[in-house]
Amino acid sequence: MLPGKGVRLPFSLLSLVLNFVSSDALGLGTPLDYAPNVNVTCPPNDTLIRVFTPQTQSLNELEANYTNTRLNEVIPQAWQDWLGNGSAIGYNLSSFGGNYSKIGIAISGGGYRAAQYGAGVLSGFDARNSSAVAAGTGGMLQVTSYISALSGGSWLTGSLFFNDWPTIPDMIFGNNGNLSGWILDLNLAAPDGLDVFNDENQYFFGSILYSIVAKANLSIYTSITDPWARMISYHFLNETTRQNFFLNDSAHGAGQLWSDIPQIPSVQQHLTPWPLVVANSRPVGSNSTAALTPEPIVYEITPAEFGSWDPNLSAMANMTYVGTHINNGAPPNATGCVTGFDQAGFMMGTSASLFNQILDFADNTLEGFDSSDAKNLIYVLQRQLREVRTRAADVANWPNPFQSIKPDTFEDSSSNWLELIDGSSNLENVPFGALFVKARELDVIIGVDSSADDSSSFPNGTSPLFSQARIATLLNSSHQTFPPIPSSFDEFVSTGVNQRPTFFGCDPTQNPPEFPLVIYMPNAPPLNGDNPVTNTDTFKIQYTAKHSLIFLDQVHNNTIGGFVPNQLGPDPNWGKCLQCAAIDRARLKVTPTIGRSDICTTCFKQYCFNPQNPPNASEIVGRKYTFVDPDPQGVSKVEGFLGNNKAPFIVGLVLLFLLIIAAVFFLRRWKAKKDREYKRLTMEADDAGAPWLAYHERLSTLELPSREGLGK
Ligand SMILES: *[C@@H]1O[C@H](CO)[C@@H](O)[C@H](O)[C@H]1NC(C)=O
Ligand SMILES: *[C@@H]1O[C@H](CO)[C@@H](O)[C@H](O)[C@H]1NC(C)=O
Ligand SMILES: *[C@@H]1O[C@H](CO)[C@@H](O)[C@H](O)[C@H]1NC(C)=O
Ligand SMILES: *[C@@H]1O[C@H](CO)[C@@H](O)[C@H](O)[C@H]1NC(C)=O
Ligand SMILES: *[C@@H]1O[C@H](CO)[C@@H](O)[C@H](O)[C@H]1NC(C)=O
Ligand SMILES: *[C@@H]1O[C@H](CO)[C@@H](O)[C@H](O)[C@H]1NC(C)=O
Ligand SMILES: *[C@@H]1O[C@H](CO)[C@@H](O)[C@H](O)[C@H]1NC(C)=O
Ligand SMILES: *[C@@H]1O[C@H](CO)[C@@H](O)[C@H](O)[C@H]1NC(C)=O
Ligand SMILES: *[C@@H]1O[C@H](CO)[C@@H](O)[C@H](O)[C@H]1NC(C)=O
Ligand SMILES: *[C@@H]1O[C@H](CO)[C@@H](O)[C@H](O)[C@H]1NC(C)=O
Ligand SMILES: *[C@@H]1O[C@H](CO)[C@@H](O)[C@H](O)[C@H]1NC(C)=O
Ligand SMILES: *[C@@H]1O[C@H](CO)[C@@H](O)[C@H](O)[C@H]1NC(C)=O
Repeated sequence: MLPGKGVRLPFSLLSLVLNFVSSDALGLGTPLDYAPNVNVTCPPNDTLIRVFTPQTQSLNELEANYTNTRLNEVIPQAWQDWLGNGSAIGYNLSSFGGNYSKIGIAISGGGYRAAQYGAGVLSGFDARNSSAVAAGTGGMLQVTSYISALSGGSWLTGSLFFNDWPTIPDMIFGNNGNLSGWILDLNLAAPDGLDVFNDENQYFFGSILYSIVAKANLSIYTSITDPWARMISYHFLNETTRQNFFLNDSAHGAGQLWSDIPQIPSVQQHLTPWPLVVANSRPVGSNSTAALTPEPIVYEITPAEFGSWDPNLSAMANMTYVGTHINNGAPPNATGCVTGFDQAGFMMGTSASLFNQILDFADNTLEGFDSSDAKNLIYVLQRQLREVRTRAADVANWPNPFQSIKPDTFEDSSSNWLELIDGSSNLENVPFGALFVKARELDVIIGVDSSADDSSSFPNGTSPLFSQARIATLLNSSHQTFPPIPSSFDEFVSTGVNQRPTFFGCDPTQNPPEFPLVIYMPNAPPLNGDNPVTNTDTFKIQYTAKHSLIFLDQVHNNTIGGFVPNQLGPDPNWGKCLQCAAIDRARLKVTPTIGRSDICTTCFKQYCFNPQNPPNASEIVGRKYTFVDPDPQGVSKVEGFLGNNKAPFIVGLVLLFLLIIAAVFFLRRWKAKKDREYKRLTMEADDAGAPWLAYHERLSTLELPSREGLGK
């Protein structure tokens, strides 16, 4: 049954796609806004890219202006609001003479788990949250200069910006006003229940297809990252509500650009840190489907620029014009520039493009795949793929702005395209690197790690270890040194520093210090001994509201709670200890330096990792490690679809992607022999009751009747 249906569906959808595209009546604010603008007049080519060396690296002027203005005009007051006159932690803040630490927060990947874990930590650091303020931790977010993020962490970050820097509960659960929440109870890939053929799912896919064909039609290669990007936009950007989820009365985030972040009101007021989103690259031609070695270039995406500080590239491209093929610093011609490629959803999708490791086109299989029906479906679709033209289908395809740059060291110097993939593909799941860039001059770096490393899906130090190694071997000319940490994940585990907040690099031997201080905030079981609900699978793409509420609460409570050796429960001094860590480097900027206070010395004994006298995991007592579903009713439904199995979710995406390739392919042919092809395709769509027909009619007249009764 499925193969038959599978065959008919694509062609049915094709015919409606053709109609969307042939319609001239398309207005503004539609999913079509996903298409970039081509044939744009280029700016002077010295504003398109800049090339430097590790020795001459400097910040983009927009970034420098933003961070300096925030540092000078906003953050000093935030320190005073947080620490008062400093007496609670044994200092006289006035004696610091206006010197403070410069702080960045790095938020790991891990899908919805990472987005929620990062959100819970930020709420525990937020001066707008009363329990965080009462604990003494609320205030850290307000003194932060940078936030780096990748994959699921980038979804959180994008959501914070494109919702104008709301509080965490408002952002995730909505505020009965302009914020609709993340709507995580509607499945990411199949929001109308588990069957991809359900009516509303068909409308959803149609809308996504519509977006992507508009992009592909401009001869810009798309891939599975594009539908992924559109799906992410529905949840994390600000134009989708529960009411309009299956309607096209909004662009559902299409047309919102990363380079527009500086215009967001809270950014205009310098109320936010500067965001850095990280993506990895698969060397073009390698076709790799495995985890990366450390060598491939790591890219960052900022509101100003796209590029890399890695010595092998050391170049940045103007974010407004990413999507332009730039060869040796010049665009193809004076009107050959592209804008609007930096779709917010596509930036978040690129950072989270993990498909090259889980899709296996060659063997016709999917990792974890076990349903024979789905297998048949894939097989049929696979045959279609062989007939159509595309380039790398399993990565984010970016026109290369750095062609011919650094030919001796830049691996993709000769390539027209870059193949960007999930920021954690080189196992650096916490985007530390972006914050260690020398020009950013950070004193304190907070690692928010919700990697699913161990058998209970908690982190075990893999990510900081890989970052430390990559910095030491490849980036020592461009990046600050990573401070001492345990030497292996076995030592991370045996010291217990993967289960509690830990400070690394507390005692530099030089001034200025040879490394920043790192505050490590790993996802860990609740301090009160409850069953954990935060160690969920990366591929869990649907959460009930109840689960999310408890998830956020557990993370928030751990973030404001610290830990006490050999007992359960929060540490009443943790807030002060976090303040001690935040301000500690500022002591060294004052002449003469200020000694560490007694209170802070006591704190550091408890929270610092001292390689000479490491702590022991036996101090962590009474915790439970096994995930226990807090809302089984909701999840049993999910299990029917996902279980521990990624396949159906991937099947949905593959299906969608193949439809798009097919649509573009047929669109080209259709242009050549318009009428005949059109008729043929329409005639194949002979099922009068098919849901796509209703959608077809709606879109051809652009009248979108309101729909009710979602809440499934
Ligand atoms: C861009 O310009 C080229 C010719 O210069 C033209 O063939 C193409 O159709 C134009 N594309 C768009 C989308 O206007
Ligand atoms: C940065 O700030 C300087 C001084 O205020 C100003 O002249 C310049 O235009 C700003 N640059 C950008 C890119 O905002
Ligand atoms: C800080 O303020 C408290 C009262 O709020 C006062 O008792 C204390 O002396 C002040 N400390 C310093 C260092 O100014
Ligand atoms: C705090 O430091 C300031 C500036 O050095 C000084 O004027 C003030 O007297 C100090 N306050 C206390 C309570 O020591
Ligand atoms: C969404 O955010 C953008 C800014 O990023 C803003 O211009 C727009 O008004 C917002 N839309 C809604 C529906 O809140
Ligand atoms: C990668 O794939 C391309 C296209 O199929 C092929 O030409 C190339 O040889 C492959 N590269 C490697 C290293 O297998
Ligand atoms: C990008 O280029 C435009 C046009 O030259 C320029 O106005 C803008 O400042 C550039 N942006 C950055 C971040 O350099
Ligand atoms: C930049 O553009 C000018 C003409 O506008 C050209 O003369 C110059 O060679 C270009 N620079 C590069 C690096 O291509
Ligand atoms: C300029 O370059 C673009 C992108 O390569 C191309 O589509 C367009 O046809 C070129 N225009 C002219 C006038 O050559
Ligand atoms: C730590 O995590 C890695 C994956 O990141 C895994 O291969 C390894 O077995 C784990 N080791 C321990 C001791 O948990
Ligand atoms: C978080 O802490 C508060 C205050 O102690 C408590 O009422 C609440 O139950 C805790 N939440 C969870 C999920 O443990
Ligand atoms: C840091 O403190 C010193 C006094 O030790 C002062 O001269 C300097 O201006 C301060 N720096 C900043 C950035 O406030």
